[in-house]
Amino acid sequence: MALRSARDSQIFIIGCGISGIGAAQKLLHHGFHNVHIIEATARSGGRIRTGRLGDNIIEIGANWIHGPSKENPVFRLACDYQLLDKESMSEENQAIDVGGHPLFVPNWFTSSGRKLGLETMGPVVEFFMKLLERSQQFHDSGGEPLPSVGEFVKAEVERLAPEEWKEDQTNIAVKAAMINTLLKLECCVSGTHTMDDVGLGAFGMYKTLPGLDCTFPGGYEGLIDHMMKELPKDLVLYNKPVKCIHWNYTKNGPSGTSFPVTIECVNGETFAADHVIVTVPLGYLKKHQSTFLSPPPPLHKLHSIQRMGFGTNNKIFLEFEQPFWDEDCELIYLVWEDETHLADVVSDVKMSWIRKLVGFTVLKPTERYGHVLCGWIAGRESEHMETLSEHEVLHSVTQLLRIFTGNPTLTPRKLLRSQWFHEPYSCGSYTYVAKGCSGYDIDNLAEPLPLKGSNSKSLQVLFAGEATHRSFFSTVHGALLSGWREAERLASHYTPASGSFSSKL
Ligand SMILES: Cc1cc2nc3c(=O)[nH]c(=O)nc-3n(C[C@H](O)[C@H](O)[C@H](O)COP(=O)(O)OP(=O)(O)OC[C@H]3O[C@@H](n4cnc5c(N)ncnc54)[C@H](O)[C@@H]3O)c2cc1C
Ligand SMILES: *[C@@H]1O[C@H](CO)[C@@H](O)[C@H](O)[C@H]1NC(C)=O
Repeated sequence: MALRSARDSQIFIIGCGISGIGAAQKLLHHGFHNVHIIEATARSGGRIRTGRLGDNIIEIGANWIHGPSKENPVFRLACDYQLLDKESMSEENQAIDVGGHPLFVPNWFTSSGRKLGLETMGPVVEFFMKLLERSQQFHDSGGEPLPSVGEFVKAEVERLAPEEWKEDQTNIAVKAAMINTLLKLECCVSGTHTMDDVGLGAFGMYKTLPGLDCTFPGGYEGLIDHMMKELPKDLVLYNKPVKCIHWNYTKNGPSGTSFPVTIECVNGETFAADHVIVTVPLGYLKKHQSTFLSPPPPLHKLHSIQRMGFGTNNKIFLEFEQPFWDEDCELIYLVWEDETHLADVVSDVKMSWIRKLVGFTVLKPTERYGHVLCGWIAGRESEHMETLSEHEVLHSVTQLLRIFTGNPTLTPRKLLRSQWFHEPYSCGSYTYVAKGCSGYDIDNLAEPLPLKGSNSKSLQVLFAGEATHRSFFSTVHGALLSGWREAERLASHYTPASGSFSSKL
């Protein structure tokens, strides 16, 4: 057998999102030089995708750095590359800790064309936020009384509302409808069809970092561009969707070398590898679980892939001539006054999908964007929206806004929406911990193949990507950290003896 040093290991990374790019970066840093990324599409960035609406930059995928402070590696990179404005980098901004729920200045509109005042909405929001906080506490304390966040919140509203709302008996029905709006917003945050699918015991597993969420003035993709510039030009093989990873067998390569893994692409091309880091989204893994790995992964891993949650959250961008919202407004909520029964799903998806569109964030600052709103819609209603033409969506949203503002001539100028469920290499938006799942499921997702104790060559297939991060799943920083983690796993496998690589091959 030809003597190869660890440094010569053939390493392929599947997927050129931030986790794949991060893994490549760290591997090169550790001296591995046969590193490639295989990407299905023609671009880098994956779910970080910046687009345009007219002259405006908009984020079709990730929007914020969640918790921009020193501990957040995305924040640190963005600062190094000078991609943020001064305010976002200030010490004050980094010190603000809102526990993941930025206090946007809201406007509340209802389906009778009313605007709700602070005295009505303030206490309801506070009440709801307390219930969410309590939902998170079961992770540490255990003994959750109900399986899902949705069931718990609804039960507690039923139980506590009579006391909570007894001072102000007016608007009781509207308050219940507001709870539904807040639940629908949580569906967007978690990327789920309904909060009834989100596990209560694991809800607190998601950890927030201090710092007031900030955006990239020049677009999130600028971060990807800067990271890509630091990698060799020919590192990424684009337009090569991987069909199957054949592991646990030995194929003889040139000059007598042998490889335990063969990567088979859709176009028939194959690549022989010592190690493969898989970073494809969990949604893709779910959809292709029976064919993506051969032999299939062990049952406990397969079950975790099936049980973990991966849902859809989409954005609908609208541009207006004039704002219909207050000058200081950052978030517009829509409340259906007839929705007095507590529920965060609609009864007829085809007819009433628009009811799931919970509201809009206002793109700021106005001097940069003009009057642009970003609408949020999650779940199967969102997946149905993706099947409609842009024209149909524009029509429905226009009707909706005319009802809620009471202005029968209100007309958005332009529309653009995301379609994450139908993106063939995402199959949805991001991961949540589903009912019945726990941190062990995430550990199972992240567990390399073959399993420990096998006689075969170790670390053939490794797993990174946002879904594999125990506390930062569903985020960009979680994805980046997971890519670094798997690169470090490989590097420490070939433990440097006296500062240099020793050959374990
Ligand atoms: C609408 C939306 C809003 C979001 N907002 C935020 C936010 O504000 N803040 C935040 O922190 N996070 C946000 N996220 C989440 C964040 O975008 C992701 O967690 C992160 O970008 C995931 O990175 P990744 O590398 O794990 O996966 P991806 O970026 O999905 O990368 C995976 C790559 O694998 C490729 N691939 C898939 N299948 C194959 C195959 N068979 N062969 C080859 N290549 C393949 C894909 O094309 C893709 O390029 C948002 C996501 C969405 C969808
Ligand atoms: C891997 O190969 C070994 C040796 O051929 C075999 O014993 C083992 O069952 C295989 N593992 C899987 C998961 O197929």
